[in-house]
Amino acid sequence: MFSQSLENVRMSPIVTISEEVRKRSKEFKERTGKDFLLFQRGEVDFATPQYIKDAATKGLELGLTKYPKSGGEAFFKEAVVKKLEYYNNVKGLTPDNVIATYGGQEGLELTFKLFEGKKGAGFAPCWSCVLENFVPYCNIDFMEVPLEPDFTVNYEKLEDMMKGISFFYLNNPQNPSGKLFNEEEIVRITGLCEKYGVYLITDESYESIVYDGDKVFSALSLPYKNIISIYTLSKTYSMTGWRIGYLATRNEAIPRLMLLGNYTQTAGVTTFIQFAAAEALNNRTESEKAISEMVNEYKIRRDALYEILKGIPGLKVYMPHAGFYFFPDFSGLIPGGLGEEEQKLYAYQKMMDAGIATVYGACFGHHFNNNVRFSYSATNLSVIKEAGERLKILFN
Ligand SMILES: Cc1ncc(COP(=O)(O)O)c(C=O)c1O
Repeated sequence: MFSQSLENVRMSPIVTISEEVRKRSKEFKERTGKDFLLFQRGEVDFATPQYIKDAATKGLELGLTKYPKSGGEAFFKEAVVKKLEYYNNVKGLTPDNVIATYGGQEGLELTFKLFEGKKGAGFAPCWSCVLENFVPYCNIDFMEVPLEPDFTVNYEKLEDMMKGISFFYLNNPQNPSGKLFNEEEIVRITGLCEKYGVYLITDESYESIVYDGDKVFSALSLPYKNIISIYTLSKTYSMTGWRIGYLATRNEAIPRLMLLGNYTQTAGVTTFIQFAAAEALNNRTESEKAISEMVNEYKIRRDALYEILKGIPGLKVYMPHAGFYFFPDFSGLIPGGLGEEEQKLYAYQKMMDAGIATVYGACFGHHFNNNVRFSYSATNLSVIKEAGERLKILFN
């Protein structure tokens, strides 16, 4: 009786896992005297940098409390154009190429809506919201192109898939693997999109959380016109609750449609939030300082967790180059003879019983069922160390 597309949408399994944790943590504490260790969510534990909070206050004082302009205020879109130029090396855009969105979530939803009812593809593993939310919501026939076990691209498989799809979704840096696609990979993937007339959707939500001197290469810096790039301030500026992001494209037919979608759904993003976000993006000194502080801390956590995971015999661990997730492969630790469902949940359940919350691989598509995602976005070093102790007991 009600909308089929809404009926098909599923709540993110990560939210469901968090609810389960909430239920079990009391019992766990009573039984063991210990806390649940929360490695399941992509929430961040840093406060929003002070200069951004100050800018929000200033925006309120300036009276930026009226109805917003759909698609974004001029000052925000100008700030985005500048940031794309200095940070992403994207040249030649104007504010007309940009739309302000309620976080990366709305940017992706508007973009998937553009391809409603069509065929699309993306690499597996793939962020769960794409699979559980945007794809069913927009009635998309979505194919997964598996990355190799070491998360390299199989170009033969990719090219095969390009024939007959309307768009390709590329999340870089990637959630959940922590892979950072390099320039050569981005150029090849974009080239294939161009060859087959496929739109490229890039999701660069984790763009500045990059380690070891690496940098994200943005496809939008290439001349191919049919690229839509999604950004958000949620992770990079620790602004998850502010709900602000933006998208940009060289294809001038697209912003007009996005603006209509944005007006229909939300009538635009809160104006004083756009004001603060413009300051976040354009105050380079403060921005670089805030981001490097966060990334340094994430790196300390990453290195500590890597040592722990590497020490588990039989576990295959890929060192993330970006983002704040590990996605190790537990195949070598899962006993034979289990049913498919049991196998999928084996490592996750075992850790859950020991008070370690993670996300099982099947949440990220069909190809990495034996992997498990650990997020270190909100786990300080003492939590990571405690996890190390528990994992040693569990898997040695
Ligand atoms: C890959 C990816 N894209 C987009 C988003 C959405 O970000 P936002 O919180 O800004 O909606 C997330 C959030 O977890 C994400 O992991």
